[in-house]
Amino acid sequence: MISVGMKLVQDITNLSGKRALVRVDFNVPVSAGKVIDDFRIKESLPTIELLRKKGASVILISHFEGGGKTLAVVAEYLKKYFPVSFIPNYSSPDFSKNLQEGEVVLCENLRQNLGEKENSEEFVKNLAALGDIFVNEAFSVSHREHSSVVGVPKLLPSYAGLRFQSEYENLSDAFHPVQPFLFALGGAKFDTKFSLIEKFVSLADFVFVGGALANNFFLKKGYSIGKSLHSEGNFNIDNLLSNRKIVLPLDVVVQDGESVSVKKPEEVTNGDIIVDCGKETVEMLKQYLKQSKTVLWNGPFGAYEKGFKKSTNLFAEAIAQSSARSIVGGGDTIASVSSLGIFDKFSFVSTAGGAMLDFLSKGTLPGIDALN
Ligand code: 3PG
Repeated sequence: MISVGMKLVQDITNLSGKRALVRVDFNVPVSAGKVIDDFRIKESLPTIELLRKKGASVILISHFEGGGKTLAVVAEYLKKYFPVSFIPNYSSPDFSKNLQEGEVVLCENLRQNLGEKENSEEFVKNLAALGDIFVNEAFSVSHREHSSVVGVPKLLPSYAGLRFQSEYENLSDAFHPVQPFLFALGGAKFDTKFSLIEKFVSLADFVFVGGALANNFFLKKGYSIGKSLHSEGNFNIDNLLSNRKIVLPLDVVVQDGESVSVKKPEEVTNGDIIVDCGKETVEMLKQYLKQSKTVLWNGPFGAYEKGFKKSTNLFAEAIAQSSARSIVGGGDTIASVSSLGIFDKFSFVSTAGGAMLDFLSKGTLPGIDALN
């Protein structure tokens, strides 16, 4: 249950004749002009439908970093759910004043305007003029201090969307988990994830550090990591290294030129590139999973985008088969779960990547604070 002071979209009584400006995250994968993963879009539909039922017209706004950078392709995709018009230019609010009850429009990519990222007063005013109320249904971009996230709520009565609330509630469970609790973190960027490891070492019973993140630990242990990815910088990880809750890969898959082999981390040589965790590591993780009542996972354990997906996929399958409450998120993590067709085996799959990490590390986000 949301306990902070956010107003909730389901509590609005009558919106007849009102314009609901809804921040969604339609930053979705697109290929050859077609949406190829609609997870984020689908998750925003209940809020859109709710607003339409309440008599509002719905003005959708989103950023889009994908191919071509125009949201026209998403507007096309949305038509399978309801009639929707695409608004390439929304510098004047005139179009919004003629919308009918239940009508839906999608505005062009917010980030085509410099004012969006700069949270400029002028652009905020421009956006706020499009609606009578504002709904944030984009938890996954709520770590950004952008006009459409933190600016507009200052000018319009603002509400949390249904999916936004569910992200908030489910991710908050990680702060008071049913124990034993396994926290598994992969990917790279030790600098952004270091504080998360520090935080979860006190909240979790086991903290598995995989992917390129583990390489920083190996280096600290004095092992060679060859030419493997790692984060530069002076991280104070001595305390973490000696913490018994920290679990590192037992074996790693390494690439040396054309050859790929499995080694113990201490056997890696200067020519090697660590590209994945090995089988022994996955077996160990399965044992931790068996003991756990909650598992929280973000980030792949190998160079996922380069095709080294094995340990990530095996871990996803192991979670799907376990009885632990499972909360997962992050681009490659979701891609893994999705490619295996096991989405529904997880208790909660977050639509967020960076926002999930920021929320877990700070307990709030600029977009949440703005709604309060
Ligand atoms: C994401 O894909 O994680 C969100 O859409 C946020 O995108 P951004 O990192 O470009 O702000």
